[in-house]
Amino acid sequence: MSQLVVRRLLVDMERPIAPHWCDGDPFRTALFNALSMSFPVGEQFFIDSLREGFKALPPEGQARFREELQGFVGQEATHRRLHGLYNEHLERQGLRNAWGPRAERRMKRLQGLDARHPVAITAANEHFTAILADWLLRHPAFLGRDDERLATLWLWHASEESEHKNTAFDLYHALGGTHEWRIRWFRRATFFLLSDLARQTLANLRRDGTLWRLATWKSAWQHLFGQDGLVAGLRGPWREYLRHDFHPSQQDSSASVRWLAEHAQAFRPVGA
Ligand SMILES: [Fe+2]
Ligand SMILES: [Fe+2]
Repeated sequence: MSQLVVRRLLVDMERPIAPHWCDGDPFRTALFNALSMSFPVGEQFFIDSLREGFKALPPEGQARFREELQGFVGQEATHRRLHGLYNEHLERQGLRNAWGPRAERRMKRLQGLDARHPVAITAANEHFTAILADWLLRHPAFLGRDDERLATLWLWHASEESEHKNTAFDLYHALGGTHEWRIRWFRRATFFLLSDLARQTLANLRRDGTLWRLATWKSAWQHLFGQDGLVAGLRGPWREYLRHDFHPSQQDSSASVRWLAEHAQAFRPVGA
C-alpha cells in the first residue's frame, strides 16, 4: 500500500506546440506525440479496469486498496486531461490519432471477461510505462531543451507512473490472478504497444512530411538502437516482469522521488 498524491501541474497548455518541439528532431517529436495520443483512451481503460477489479474484491481487500485506488485514479485522470489538451494542439497541426480509436475497438472485445483479465492488461502496460518513465527520468536530455513546458509535463507524468507502478500488479494478485495469465497478457500487451507506437509514429512523420528524410531515420536508429538508446535501456527491465518472483517495487524508483522533490514548484498537491 502506498500514499499516492494527486498533483495539479502548473503548466500552460493553451500555448501552441511547435511542430518539432523536441530539439527540432522530427523522430523524437513524432514518438512522444504518438505516446500522448494513446493516453486518453489507455488511461481511461486502466482506471475502469482497476475500478472493476476493486469491486470484485472481498470487503477486507477493498479496505486495503480503497485509498491507493483513489490516488491511482486521481493521477491517471489528471494525466489524461492534460494529454487531451496536448492532443488538441496535435490535431490542429493536422495529425490524426488512429491509435486511440483502434485501442478502443480492441477493448470492446474484452467486455464480459473476468475482471482479472483487464487488470492483468493494465499491470502489463503499467510495467512498460514504469520502466519507460524511469529511463526517461534518467535521460531527460531525450526530451530536448526547446520546450521546457512539455519536458516538465513528460517528467511529471513519468514520476507519477513510477510512483504508482505497484497498484495494478498488487490488485491483480489480490484478485488471485495467476502467473501464467500475467505473462500471457504481458506478451500480448507488449506486441500491441510496440506495433501501435510504431504505426502512429510513422503516421505522424508521414503527415508532417519528414518520413523520408535521412535525418529522421538516423535519429530513429541512434535513439532506438544506439548504445544509450531505448532498446538497450529497456530490454533488461522489460524481461524482469517474466520472473515468477517479480514485483514492481524491486525496480528502482529513486529518479521519480528525486524529480518530485526537486520540482515542487511545478505542481500543487490536490487537497493540500
Ligand atoms: Fe499516466
Ligand atoms: Fe499509470
